[in-house]
Amino acid sequence: MTETSEPTLLDGDSYIDGCPHARLAALREAGTTSWQPGTVDPSMSQPEVFGAWFVHRYEEVKSVLRDPATFSSQRGTVMLVDPAPDRVEAMSNMLLNMDPPKHSRYRRLVAAIFTPRRVEELRPRVEALAKQVIDRIAPIGTADGIHDIAAPMPMRVIAELLGIPERGEQLFEISNRMTGAVDDRDPETRLRLALEAALDIHVLGQETAREKRGRPDGTVLSAYVNGTLEGVDADQQGATDEETGWFLMLMAVGGNETVRTATAQAIRIFSQWPGQRDLLVSDLDRYMPGAVEEILRYRAPIRSIRRTTNADVEIDGQPMGEGTKVVCNFTAALRDPRAFDDPDTFDITREQPRTQLAFGFGEHYCLGANLARLQLQVILREIYSRIPDIHPSGEVVHQPSPLISGLLSMPVAFTPET
Ligand code: HEM
Repeated sequence: MTETSEPTLLDGDSYIDGCPHARLAALREAGTTSWQPGTVDPSMSQPEVFGAWFVHRYEEVKSVLRDPATFSSQRGTVMLVDPAPDRVEAMSNMLLNMDPPKHSRYRRLVAAIFTPRRVEELRPRVEALAKQVIDRIAPIGTADGIHDIAAPMPMRVIAELLGIPERGEQLFEISNRMTGAVDDRDPETRLRLALEAALDIHVLGQETAREKRGRPDGTVLSAYVNGTLEGVDADQQGATDEETGWFLMLMAVGGNETVRTATAQAIRIFSQWPGQRDLLVSDLDRYMPGAVEEILRYRAPIRSIRRTTNADVEIDGQPMGEGTKVVCNFTAALRDPRAFDDPDTFDITREQPRTQLAFGFGEHYCLGANLARLQLQVILREIYSRIPDIHPSGEVVHQPSPLISGLLSMPVAFTPET
C-alpha cells in the first residue's frame, strides 16, 4: 500500500495534461493498491467524491473484475463519482451498473444485439461512413481531429446497428453535448450540457421503444423491445421503455466516446511513433489488427472503472471494509511490466496474446468489443491509406477526466490528397 501526498487521482485536474503515466507507474511499482482521497468538486452534480483504493496491477485488476459478488457494480455505480443517492437506484437500470442475477438476465438480451454476424454485416456501412469522413477533409490538408475525424462515425454506426439510421443525426448531436465535445471549456457549462443531453437521450430511447412496441418492423431495436431477438430465450421479455432509455444512454457513453477517444489517440500516438506508423502503412492488412490492440493497451480509452465492496476483503494484504470504493486502473495495469515486456514501448507487432483488458474482464466484459475493433480498423485504414502523414498541429486539449482519456480538440495537418 502507498499513501500519496499528490493531488488525488480522482480529481479531473490530475489529467489536464493527459495520462499521468509516470505517476501511475511509480504508484504501481510501490504497491498493488494506493489510497486516493476523496475530494470536493463543485463542478460535479454531486460534489462529494468518495476516496477509493486504486488497483494498479494487471492480475489484481482482473481478480477484482472476475468477482462481482464481492465487488459490486450496482452499489454506487461504476462511475468514479457517486450520483446523488436518489439517482443510484435509477442508474441501476443501466447494464453497466447491475449485479447478478439481474445483470445476467439483462446481459443476455443486450448480447443478442452484438452477435459477430450482425457486427460483420455492418462492415460495408462502416466503410462507407469512414470514407465520407475522410473524403470531406482529405483535399483540405487541415482538420480538427476530434470534430471532423473521430466524432462523426461511432454514434451513426450505433444507429445503423439498431436499425434506426434516421435517428443517426439526432443521436450524434446529443452525444456531442453528452461528451462535452462542445465549444466550451468551462467545466460547469460542459457538465450542465452533458446532464441535459443525458436526459434527452433517455427520453429519445423511451419514445423509440413506445414506437416499436407491438409493431415489429424487422429492426434490431424493435426485436429488442418486443423480446424477439434471435438467440434470446422464448420466455425472455423485451426491454421496457425505461430500460431502452438507459440502453441508449449506455450506447452513448460506452459505445461512442470510447471509439472516438481511441481514434483520436491513435492519430496522436502514431505521430509520436513514426517508425510504427511507417510499418503500419507498409502493410495495412498485416499490421492493422495488432495496431488496434496496441493502441487500446498503450492508451486505454477508459482509464478506470469503479466497484464497491460487498464484504470485508483484502487485496494483496490491504484490508478494505465493506462498502469501500475500489477503482480498477486500466491505464496502469495495461503497462504493468509483470504482464507486458517493455510496456512503455508502443509496438504494433507485440505477440503476447493477452486478454485485452482495455475492454474489461469477466461478467461486464465489453459487449461492443468486436464492433469497436471493426470501426477502429476501418477508420484507421481510411486515414493511413490516404493521409498517412497526419499529425497534431496545435494545442491538444485533454478531457480533464479520471474516467476517460478523451480529447476535446486536436488540430491536425497532413499532405492534402490530390
Ligand atoms: C475502444 C472502444 C471501447 C472500449 C475501450 C470499451 C470498454 C469497455 C469496458 C472497460 C467495459 C467494462 C466496464 C465494467 O467492467 O464495469 C465495457 C462494457 C460495455 N461496453 Fe464497451 N468499450 C468500447 C466500445 C464499445 C462499443 C462500440 C459498444 C457498443 C456499441 C460498447 C458497449 C458496451 C456494453 C453494452 C458494455 C456493458 C457490458 C456489461 O455491463 O455487461 N462498448 N466497455
